[in-house]
Amino acid sequence: MEVVIVPDAAAGGELVAEAMAQLLGRRPDALLGVATGSTPLPVYEALAAKVRSGAVDASRARIAQLDEYVGLPADHPESYRSVLRREVLEPLGIGMDGFLGPDGTAEDVRAACAAYDRTLAEAGGVDLQLLGIGTDGHIGFNEPCSSLASRTRIKTLTQQTRADNARFFDGDVDQVPHHVITQGIGTILEARHLVLLATGEGKADAVAATVEGPVAAVCPASALQLHPHATVVVDEPAAAKL
Ligand code: GLP
Repeated sequence: MEVVIVPDAAAGGELVAEAMAQLLGRRPDALLGVATGSTPLPVYEALAAKVRSGAVDASRARIAQLDEYVGLPADHPESYRSVLRREVLEPLGIGMDGFLGPDGTAEDVRAACAAYDRTLAEAGGVDLQLLGIGTDGHIGFNEPCSSLASRTRIKTLTQQTRADNARFFDGDVDQVPHHVITQGIGTILEARHLVLLATGEGKADAVAATVEGPVAAVCPASALQLHPHATVVVDEPAAAKL
Protein backbone atom coordinates (compact mmCIF):
# COMPACT_ATOMS: atom_id res chain seq x y z
CA MET A 1 0.00 0.00 0.00
CA GLU A 2 1.32 3.39 -0.99
CA VAL A 3 0.47 6.36 1.26
CA VAL A 4 0.71 9.86 -0.19
CA ILE A 5 0.35 12.83 2.17
CA VAL A 6 -0.71 16.06 0.49
CA PRO A 7 -1.06 19.50 2.08
CA ASP A 8 -4.80 19.90 1.59
CA ALA A 9 -7.96 18.59 -0.06
CA ALA A 10 -7.41 20.57 -3.27
CA ALA A 11 -3.96 19.00 -3.74
CA GLY A 12 -5.47 15.55 -3.12
CA GLY A 13 -8.14 16.23 -5.73
CA GLU A 14 -5.55 17.32 -8.27
CA LEU A 15 -3.35 14.28 -7.62
CA VAL A 16 -6.17 11.77 -8.05
CA ALA A 17 -7.58 13.61 -11.07
CA GLU A 18 -4.14 13.42 -12.68
CA ALA A 19 -4.03 9.65 -12.09
CA MET A 20 -7.44 9.35 -13.77
CA ALA A 21 -6.33 11.60 -16.62
CA GLN A 22 -3.25 9.47 -17.26
CA LEU A 23 -5.36 6.31 -17.20
CA LEU A 24 -7.77 7.82 -19.75
CA GLY A 25 -4.79 8.82 -21.89
CA ARG A 26 -3.66 5.18 -21.99
CA ARG A 27 -7.13 3.72 -22.11
CA PRO A 28 -9.86 6.11 -23.31
CA ASP A 29 -12.68 3.69 -22.48
CA ALA A 30 -11.40 2.94 -18.96
CA LEU A 31 -13.98 1.95 -16.36
CA LEU A 32 -13.68 4.41 -13.48
CA GLY A 33 -15.29 3.41 -10.20
CA VAL A 34 -16.48 6.48 -8.37
CA ALA A 35 -17.62 7.28 -4.85
CA THR A 36 -20.10 9.78 -3.51
CA GLY A 37 -19.76 11.99 -0.44
CA SER A 38 -17.95 15.31 -0.05
CA THR A 39 -14.37 14.00 -0.21
CA PRO A 40 -14.19 13.12 -3.93
CA LEU A 41 -15.67 16.43 -5.12
CA PRO A 42 -12.26 18.12 -5.63
CA VAL A 43 -11.27 15.13 -7.79
CA TYR A 44 -14.30 15.50 -10.03
CA GLU A 45 -13.82 19.28 -10.24
CA ALA A 46 -10.14 18.93 -11.17
CA LEU A 47 -10.88 16.24 -13.76
CA ALA A 48 -13.71 18.29 -15.27
CA ALA A 49 -11.32 21.26 -15.55
CA LYS A 50 -8.90 19.04 -17.50
CA VAL A 51 -11.75 17.99 -19.81
CA ARG A 52 -12.83 21.60 -20.37
CA SER A 53 -9.26 22.65 -21.18
CA GLY A 54 -8.95 19.84 -23.70
CA ALA A 55 -6.15 18.12 -21.75
CA VAL A 56 -8.32 15.02 -21.23
CA ASP A 57 -10.88 13.34 -23.44
CA ALA A 58 -13.37 11.56 -21.19
CA SER A 59 -16.02 11.07 -23.87
CA ARG A 60 -15.43 7.30 -24.05
CA ALA A 61 -14.87 6.77 -20.32
CA ARG A 62 -17.26 4.56 -18.42
CA ILE A 63 -18.36 5.22 -14.85
CA ALA A 64 -19.27 2.55 -12.28
CA GLN A 65 -21.24 3.24 -9.13
CA LEU A 66 -20.00 2.01 -5.77
CA ASP A 67 -23.18 2.01 -3.74
CA GLU A 68 -26.80 3.16 -3.73
CA TYR A 69 -29.68 3.77 -1.37
CA VAL A 70 -32.48 1.23 -1.55
CA GLY A 71 -35.92 2.61 -2.25
CA LEU A 72 -35.06 6.13 -3.38
CA PRO A 73 -36.46 6.71 -6.87
CA ALA A 74 -33.61 7.00 -9.41
CA ASP A 75 -34.59 10.64 -10.07
CA HIS A 76 -34.56 11.57 -6.35
CA PRO A 77 -31.88 14.29 -6.06
CA GLU A 78 -30.02 12.31 -3.37
CA SER A 79 -30.09 8.91 -5.04
CA TYR A 80 -26.44 8.23 -5.75
CA ARG A 81 -27.32 7.76 -9.42
CA SER A 82 -28.60 11.37 -9.50
CA VAL A 83 -25.64 12.62 -7.48
CA LEU A 84 -23.16 10.97 -9.84
CA ARG A 85 -24.99 12.24 -12.91
CA ARG A 86 -24.73 15.77 -11.49
CA GLU A 87 -21.21 15.63 -10.06
CA VAL A 88 -19.41 13.29 -12.46
CA LEU A 89 -21.17 12.39 -15.70
CA GLU A 90 -22.45 15.80 -16.76
CA PRO A 91 -19.25 17.75 -15.91
CA LEU A 92 -17.16 15.14 -17.74
CA GLY A 93 -19.51 15.00 -20.72
CA ILE A 94 -20.31 11.30 -20.28
CA GLY A 95 -23.81 10.11 -21.19
CA MET A 96 -25.87 7.65 -19.14
CA ASP A 97 -24.96 4.98 -21.73
CA GLY A 98 -21.50 5.06 -20.13
CA PHE A 99 -22.92 4.51 -16.64
CA LEU A 100 -23.07 1.24 -14.71
CA GLY A 101 -24.97 1.06 -11.46
CA PRO A 102 -27.20 -1.21 -9.38
CA ASP A 103 -30.97 -0.75 -9.41
CA GLY A 104 -31.89 0.56 -5.96
CA THR A 105 -35.58 0.37 -6.77
CA ALA A 106 -35.64 -3.26 -7.94
CA GLU A 107 -38.38 -5.43 -6.47
CA ASP A 108 -35.84 -8.22 -6.03
CA VAL A 109 -32.89 -6.35 -4.51
CA ARG A 110 -30.78 -9.47 -4.05
CA ALA A 111 -31.09 -10.28 -7.74
CA ALA A 112 -30.21 -6.67 -8.59
CA CYS A 113 -27.03 -6.98 -6.49
CA ALA A 114 -25.95 -10.18 -8.20
CA ALA A 115 -26.78 -8.65 -11.59
CA TYR A 116 -24.55 -5.67 -10.83
CA ASP A 117 -21.58 -7.88 -9.95
CA ARG A 118 -22.09 -9.67 -13.29
CA THR A 119 -22.33 -6.33 -15.12
CA LEU A 120 -19.01 -5.19 -13.66
CA ALA A 121 -17.31 -8.44 -14.62
CA GLU A 122 -18.78 -8.39 -18.14
CA ALA A 123 -17.57 -4.80 -18.55
CA GLY A 124 -14.02 -6.06 -17.99
CA GLY A 125 -13.73 -4.99 -14.35
CA VAL A 126 -13.03 -1.62 -12.81
CA ASP A 127 -9.70 -0.07 -13.84
CA LEU A 128 -9.44 2.51 -11.05
CA GLN A 129 -11.77 2.61 -8.06
CA LEU A 130 -11.89 5.84 -6.09
CA LEU A 131 -12.99 5.37 -2.49
CA GLY A 132 -13.84 7.70 0.35
CA ILE A 133 -13.91 6.45 3.91
CA GLY A 134 -16.52 6.72 6.61
CA THR A 135 -15.58 7.94 10.08
CA ASP A 136 -16.01 4.31 11.21
CA GLY A 137 -13.72 2.98 8.48
CA HIS A 138 -16.44 1.94 6.04
CA ILE A 139 -15.81 1.86 2.31
CA GLY A 140 -18.76 2.05 -0.04
CA PHE A 141 -21.45 1.16 2.46
CA ASN A 142 -19.56 -1.78 3.93
CA GLU A 143 -20.05 -1.03 7.57
CA PRO A 144 -17.71 -2.42 10.27
CA CYS A 145 -17.82 -6.22 10.52
CA SER A 146 -18.68 -6.67 6.85
CA SER A 147 -17.03 -9.78 5.46
CA LEU A 148 -13.77 -8.94 3.73
CA ALA A 149 -14.80 -11.38 0.98
CA SER A 150 -18.30 -9.90 0.54
CA ARG A 151 -19.94 -9.39 -2.83
CA THR A 152 -22.41 -6.70 -3.84
CA ARG A 153 -25.36 -7.01 -1.48
CA ILE A 154 -27.97 -5.22 0.59
CA LYS A 155 -26.82 -3.75 3.90
CA THR A 156 -28.41 -1.91 6.80
CA LEU A 157 -26.76 1.40 7.67
CA THR A 158 -25.51 2.08 11.16
CA GLN A 159 -27.05 4.97 13.05
CA GLN A 160 -23.72 6.80 12.82
CA THR A 161 -23.61 6.61 9.02
CA ARG A 162 -27.24 7.71 8.76
CA ALA A 163 -26.45 10.65 11.04
CA ASP A 164 -23.30 11.46 8.99
CA ASN A 165 -25.35 11.47 5.78
CA ALA A 166 -28.34 13.42 7.16
CA ARG A 167 -26.68 16.60 5.87
CA PHE A 168 -27.70 15.55 2.37
CA PHE A 169 -31.34 15.18 3.49
CA ASP A 170 -32.03 18.64 4.98
CA GLY A 171 -30.29 17.54 8.17
CA ASP A 172 -33.17 15.16 8.86
CA VAL A 173 -31.87 11.70 9.77
CA ASP A 174 -35.36 10.24 9.40
CA GLN A 175 -35.20 10.89 5.65
CA VAL A 176 -31.98 8.86 5.26
CA PRO A 177 -32.85 5.38 4.00
CA HIS A 178 -32.03 2.47 6.28
CA HIS A 179 -30.99 0.10 3.51
CA VAL A 180 -28.41 0.34 0.76
CA ILE A 181 -26.81 -1.69 -1.98
CA THR A 182 -23.05 -1.67 -1.86
CA GLN A 183 -20.30 -3.32 -3.84
CA GLY A 184 -18.86 -5.86 -1.42
CA ILE A 185 -15.33 -5.62 -0.12
CA GLY A 186 -14.39 -8.63 -2.25
CA THR A 187 -15.95 -6.88 -5.26
CA ILE A 188 -14.05 -3.66 -4.55
CA LEU A 189 -10.77 -5.57 -4.21
CA GLU A 190 -11.17 -6.80 -7.81
CA ALA A 191 -10.56 -3.31 -9.21
CA ARG A 192 -7.11 -3.08 -10.78
CA HIS A 193 -6.12 0.05 -8.83
CA LEU A 194 -7.72 1.26 -5.59
CA VAL A 195 -7.35 4.91 -4.61
CA LEU A 196 -8.68 5.90 -1.20
CA LEU A 197 -8.92 9.62 -0.56
CA ALA A 198 -9.40 10.96 2.97
CA THR A 199 -9.33 14.58 4.04
CA GLY A 200 -9.96 16.38 7.30
CA GLU A 201 -9.19 15.58 10.92
CA GLY A 202 -12.47 13.70 11.31
CA LYS A 203 -10.97 10.87 9.24
CA ALA A 204 -7.66 10.62 11.15
CA ASP A 205 -8.65 7.64 13.33
CA ALA A 206 -10.13 5.74 10.38
CA VAL A 207 -7.02 6.44 8.27
CA ALA A 208 -4.68 5.22 11.03
CA ALA A 209 -6.71 2.00 11.43
CA THR A 210 -6.73 1.51 7.64
CA VAL A 211 -3.01 1.98 7.13
CA GLU A 212 -1.41 0.86 10.39
CA GLY A 213 -4.03 -1.34 12.04
CA PRO A 214 -4.54 -5.05 11.49
CA VAL A 215 -6.51 -6.25 8.47
CA ALA A 216 -9.80 -6.71 10.25
CA ALA A 217 -13.49 -6.52 9.47
CA VAL A 218 -13.98 -3.91 12.21
CA CYS A 219 -12.20 -1.51 9.84
CA PRO A 220 -13.42 -2.46 6.33
CA ALA A 221 -10.92 -0.11 4.66
CA SER A 222 -8.05 -2.12 6.17
CA ALA A 223 -8.79 -4.67 3.41
CA LEU A 224 -6.86 -2.35 1.10
CA GLN A 225 -3.71 -3.76 2.70
CA LEU A 226 -4.51 -7.00 0.82
CA HIS A 227 -4.58 -5.31 -2.58
CA PRO A 228 -1.48 -5.34 -4.79
CA HIS A 229 -2.05 -1.80 -6.07
CA ALA A 230 -3.66 0.43 -3.45
CA THR A 231 -2.92 4.11 -2.99
CA VAL A 232 -4.10 6.07 0.04
CA VAL A 233 -4.10 9.82 -0.49
CA VAL A 234 -4.53 11.84 2.69
CA ASP A 235 -4.23 15.48 3.57
CA GLU A 236 -2.21 16.51 6.61
CA PRO A 237 -5.16 16.65 9.06
CA ALA A 238 -6.31 13.16 8.01
CA ALA A 239 -2.73 11.91 8.34
CA ALA A 240 -2.36 13.33 11.87
CA LYS A 241 -2.54 9.93 13.61
CA LEU A 242 -0.18 8.05 11.30
C1 GLP B 1 -20.96 7.56 2.33
C2 GLP B 1 -20.56 6.84 1.04
C3 GLP B 1 -19.10 6.47 1.06
C4 GLP B 1 -18.26 7.68 1.44
C5 GLP B 1 -18.66 8.15 2.83
C6 GLP B 1 -17.82 9.31 3.32
O1 GLP B 1 -21.20 6.68 3.36
N1 GLP B 1 -21.35 5.66 0.84
O2 GLP B 1 -18.73 5.97 -0.22
O3 GLP B 1 -16.91 7.34 1.41
O4 GLP B 1 -20.02 8.54 2.76
O5 GLP B 1 -18.37 10.52 2.87
P1 GLP B 1 -17.61 11.90 2.95
O6 GLP B 1 -16.58 11.86 1.88
O7 GLP B 1 -18.67 12.93 2.66
O8 GLP B 1 -17.04 12.01 4.30
